[in-house]
Amino acid sequence: MQARGFESLSLRMVTLEQFIVDRQQEFEGATGAFSKILRDISLGAKLVSFYLRRASLAGLLGELGLTNIQGENVQKLDYLANSLFIQLLSKNPHVAGIASEEEENIICTNPYGKYVVLLDPLDGSSNIDVGVPVGTIFSLYKRVTPQGISCEEKDFLQGGRAQVAAGYVLYGTSTLLLYTTGQGVHGFALEPAAGEFLLVYPQLQMPPKSSYYSFNDNQLHEWEGGLQQYVRSLHDQNKSLSSPLSLRYVGSLVADVHRNLLKGGVFMYPGTVKKPEGKLRLLYEGYPIGWIVEQAGGKATNGRVPILDVPAHKIHQRTPLFLGPVEDIDKITAFLTYNVAVEKV
Ligand code: AHG
Ligand code: MN
Ligand code: MN
Repeated sequence: MQARGFESLSLRMVTLEQFIVDRQQEFEGATGAFSKILRDISLGAKLVSFYLRRASLAGLLGELGLTNIQGENVQKLDYLANSLFIQLLSKNPHVAGIASEEEENIICTNPYGKYVVLLDPLDGSSNIDVGVPVGTIFSLYKRVTPQGISCEEKDFLQGGRAQVAAGYVLYGTSTLLLYTTGQGVHGFALEPAAGEFLLVYPQLQMPPKSSYYSFNDNQLHEWEGGLQQYVRSLHDQNKSLSSPLSLRYVGSLVADVHRNLLKGGVFMYPGTVKKPEGKLRLLYEGYPIGWIVEQAGGKATNGRVPILDVPAHKIHQRTPLFLGPVEDIDKITAFLTYNVAVEKV
């Protein structure tokens, strides 16, 4: 007999490690390599979560005084998170190399490793000091260079469709880890008392209708005309909706995407006249988050083509990014392609 309201308790009794072991066959080769790599990523997530929640007490807030390859001021926690994940993954025998938002060049580790990992160790850095959720984003590929030699850039530039696993950690009201290996999106919450990530979102699906729209319109005047028309259509649409869409944008990609995945929402970070390639990075933001959104039933593009089909040329390549329910993303593409107002649907 199951008391009401406790139905989901059984879900929480499944640990991330058990869940992956039970699904080893989903992952190429099923050698246990994926579960060992994800275990290191989840350990890194637990440690980052620990330091984040004590940062203001431990003098870990603020800038380090360095500028990274992105030309951004490195926050102390950017540096700490980057160091933690690189240390953990460098020791993993299955990892041949790592590329990180915080590292100019790729880092080749175990020449006999079969996988390479790309990381945004701390996403949403501008929010660390103001208590707004931040995240970690990861993406895995099987190397294309032979085992036994050092990894090469081409191992990391295979393109979004070649990912074998991808996911994110959200350091929010709880610490969540969501990932996909192409068989849907699964989400886990950290139970600090047990030090375990427990299953809370099996096969997460994004609502087909948006409740939110998420973008920073400070450069709206610099967006393509079709996009400016799309934004106007959102405001016009609200006039006739009984429950108008709300603007929600916190400036952490992981937090904005997670909310929109659960509640339905469209996110966009377009290019501008001055920066047509936009701000977000293709390899460790666009591809992994785009795959998660696609696997959750949504759509992810650069405004015109699926983000997973945008070719990778450079590790720190930037891209415009549009994520959301299929209906919304198709509408944006129509506005951008025809640069005309699409008839009211
Ligand atoms: P990161 O902190 O890893 O550099 O990423 C920040 C990104 C992304 O998280 C977010 O969507 C975007 O920057 C916000 O940019 P704006 O502050 O320009 O809106
Ligand atoms: Mn980021
Ligand atoms: Mn970052």
